Amino acid sequence: MANFNTYDFKGKKALIRVDFNVPLDDQFNITDDNRIRAVIPTIQKILKAGGSVILMSHLGRPKDGPTDKYSLKHLVKHLSGVLGTEVKFAPDCIGDEASKLAASLKGGEVLLLENLRFYKQEEKGDEAFAEELAKLGDVYVNDAFGTAHRAHASTAVIAKFFPADRKMFGLVMEGEVASAEKVMHSSEKPFTAIIGGAKVSDKIMIIENLLERATDIIIGGGMAYTFFRAMGGKVGKSLVEEDRIDTARELLKKADEKGVQIHLPSDSIIANKFAADADISSSLSNSIPDDWMGLDIGALACDMFAKVIHQSKTILWNGPMGVFEMAKFQHGTKGIAKAVADATQKGAFSLVGGGDSVAAVNQFGYADKVSYVSTGGGAMLEYFEGKELPGIAAMK
Ligand code: 3PG
Ligand code: MG
Repeated sequence: MANFNTYDFKGKKALIRVDFNVPLDDQFNITDDNRIRAVIPTIQKILKAGGSVILMSHLGRPKDGPTDKYSLKHLVKHLSGVLGTEVKFAPDCIGDEASKLAASLKGGEVLLLENLRFYKQEEKGDEAFAEELAKLGDVYVNDAFGTAHRAHASTAVIAKFFPADRKMFGLVMEGEVASAEKVMHSSEKPFTAIIGGAKVSDKIMIIENLLERATDIIIGGGMAYTFFRAMGGKVGKSLVEEDRIDTARELLKKADEKGVQIHLPSDSIIANKFAADADISSSLSNSIPDDWMGLDIGALACDMFAKVIHQSKTILWNGPMGVFEMAKFQHGTKGIAKAVADATQKGAFSLVGGGDSVAAVNQFGYADKVSYVSTGGGAMLEYFEGKELPGIAAMK
């Protein structure tokens, strides 16, 4: 594979797979443009060198072909704004019109193709479809880390239609892989992984893999209550995955055998219902009253977690500590965000990933105070589960 940084893009049409799968509200306003902003330096470098850019992406999970709701045309105006260049739009990602628009691009121009998933062939990894896409560009740049865990036509299969010296990772992919590898392979100790979110079932494999590498694992969010149940605690109406109680118990046992410290939230903010206007109180997490549920870590837990984080040299954070979308249950997640930022300032390397934790560091104003904010949700999780991502493997 070629090196993006030294490649001469002059007069070249770069076909870039980006991940513009961004959240949109009912009026098609982008509610989080992190993934768009992330790829701007890649695009600008090519344009400045005198090349042109063809962007391809998916948006959402359309099931029945072209659907207005999932059209990438909704992104054109915003993208043109952040890029500072008028972006052209091809209403289909393959076919005559796309070919003509791509062929007529001049150096410094940008074309966005319509949603790749309007074709079933994309997710199936269809070779003929990948080849059609490949014909649009002179070089292939994969900059879609967020979709690197999918073996789709545009993320993986397409690579075989470009010789080694005409395919490469873009700056997002390079940055993501470098920071993920830094955490995974050369991590300075203590290495603390902060794992949160609602469900244990989503995080079992990442915890198992981290047991081989981390010194400390902090567990917060709804998933913590399955662990408390595994230890015989009373958690009231808190979220518990009954069929994962044994798994939680096994994870605790493995951690013990390996000498990895697992930190669970000793106390919780509890509520009488799952609602922004619920009555709240606090409780030890292993003795929550019957009709109450834990929706955030408590003040003691927050202080204790912050202490562990402050002593860490490497920090990985995936998943919030509570229901931070509701003001009454955001204290824990906010506290953790601050602790990660403080540790980073003292020299730790911190990587934050997963849609919710990234939204939290943005919302609380810490995004530029951590070492790296990942554009990957599922991709980052799979990377830290120790899996090889198809989007990365296909380039090798
Ligand atoms: C994501 O947001 O997780 C990526 O863009 C991949 O999307 P998918 O989960 O629909 O494949
Ligand atoms: Mg996903």
